[in-house]
Amino acid sequence: MIISANLKTNHTRESVRKYADELCKFETKHEIRIYPPQTALFKLKSPKNIKFGAQNFYPVKNGSFTGEIGQEQLDEFDIKSVLIGHSERRHVLNENDELITKKFEFAKSQNWEITYCIGEPKSVRQKGNKAVLEYLEAQLKNIDLFYKNLIVAYEPVWAIGTGDVAKVDDVKEILDILRKKTSAPLLYGGSVKAENVKEIYELKNCDGVLVGTASWEVESFKKIIQQA
Ligand code: PGA
Repeated sequence: MIISANLKTNHTRESVRKYADELCKFETKHEIRIYPPQTALFKLKSPKNIKFGAQNFYPVKNGSFTGEIGQEQLDEFDIKSVLIGHSERRHVLNENDELITKKFEFAKSQNWEITYCIGEPKSVRQKGNKAVLEYLEAQLKNIDLFYKNLIVAYEPVWAIGTGDVAKVDDVKEILDILRKKTSAPLLYGGSVKAENVKEIYELKNCDGVLVGTASWEVESFKKIIQQA
């Protein structure tokens, strides 16, 4: 399983050090990714299956992009794994498809592992599964689904940070459809926690989870890993 912690705008460099130390002591065969805030990146000395990734980057080597970080800044910390298309980047920070595609192409040119997030807002979910699929298709349109370092995370927008997990049958249906389009590992994200993760792991086409809130405390994240 791939089990990823999106720390979002939480934690400091010092607390991420403690968090990472604790996780590195914890033996697991699963692939673990931690996406700390950019100010808390450092070279992680860890077992090979535990890696840091970047929540965000601008698709350039370097240059004049005030407030952004590019390849040079990620290289400094050996970061080779990135999130792209997270719903907060799309809907809160207003990232459009054009920028998302540029980021994807740039990350691909660097051979980075990309966790590409897709997911529908509530208004689309309410229209039913056909509308959801059309929405997800549009998010996948310009993306190379055959890219060898791709991971796709299905994260319904209305399930993120709300405590509202998608119905297992709905997750199953979406993952089954995605499986026909790509052989990339498929993750589910959206209010995942130790109490509900087991039935998600058990889905045939689920290869892991992307966890926000329930990953911010290391003990809580460890419980999610233990269930796998
Ligand atoms: P959540 O966040 O677990 O808090 O719903 C998931 C995510 O944003 O990836």
